[in-house]
Amino acid sequence: MSQEPRPGEVLIGAERLQQRVGELAETISDDYKGREVLVVGVLKGAVVFIADLIRRMTVPCEMDFMAVASYGSATHSSGVVRILKDLDTPLEGRDVLLVEDIVDSGLTLSYLVKNLRSRGPASLEVCALLVKPGHRRAGVDIRYAGFELPDVFVVGYGLDIGERYRNLPEIAALEPAPVRQP
Ligand code: IMP
Ligand code: MG
Repeated sequence: MSQEPRPGEVLIGAERLQQRVGELAETISDDYKGREVLVVGVLKGAVVFIADLIRRMTVPCEMDFMAVASYGSATHSSGVVRILKDLDTPLEGRDVLLVEDIVDSGLTLSYLVKNLRSRGPASLEVCALLVKPGHRRAGVDIRYAGFELPDVFVVGYGLDIGERYRNLPEIAALEPAPVRQP
C-alpha cells in the first residue's frame, strides 16, 4: 500500500524566504534603476513569490502572466511546453523580467526564454526563487536566483503537488519523496 506524500522537513523557513526575497528585490531595483520592469510570471507556482517580490521592488513595474503545461508526469517535466494562456502585453521594446518559482531540468525555462526573446523585448532576464542542480544541462542563464536546492521535490510558497500545499508559508520536502521516472 502506498502512503500519500505530505510536506515533511522544512528546507527554507518563512522568515528566510522573506529575507531573501527582500535581497532579490533590492538587487533587481538597483539594476533596473531609471527603467520600468515588465514582470512576467508563470502561473500558477510563481504567484506567491511575485506577490512578495514586487511589493519589495522600488522601481515601477507592470506584471503579466502566462500559463503553460509541460507534458510529463506530476513530478517530472518533458520540455515539451504548451501555452495555455498567453501574455496580454506585447513585449517589443520592454525590459522583461521572467519570474519562475523553481527551475528543475530547466527545460520549461529554456522554452519560455526562446519564446519570449522572439517577441523583441529590449532586455530579458530570468529570476527564479529556487534552482535545482539539473538545470545546468539546459544552459539557461538565471540572472537572479534565490536558493539552490538539492534534487528533492518540494512544496509550499506557491509550489504544489497535485495543486495542494501552495498556501504553505515555507518550502518543505515532500515525504516520502515521489518516485522519479528515468
Ligand atoms: P523543469 O522544466 O524540469 O525545470 O520543471 C519546471 C516546472 O516543474 C516548475 O515550474 C514546477 O511547476 C515543476 N516542478 C519542478 N520541481 C518541482 C518541485 O520540487 N516542486 C513542485 N513543482 C516542481
Ligand atoms: Mg506545478
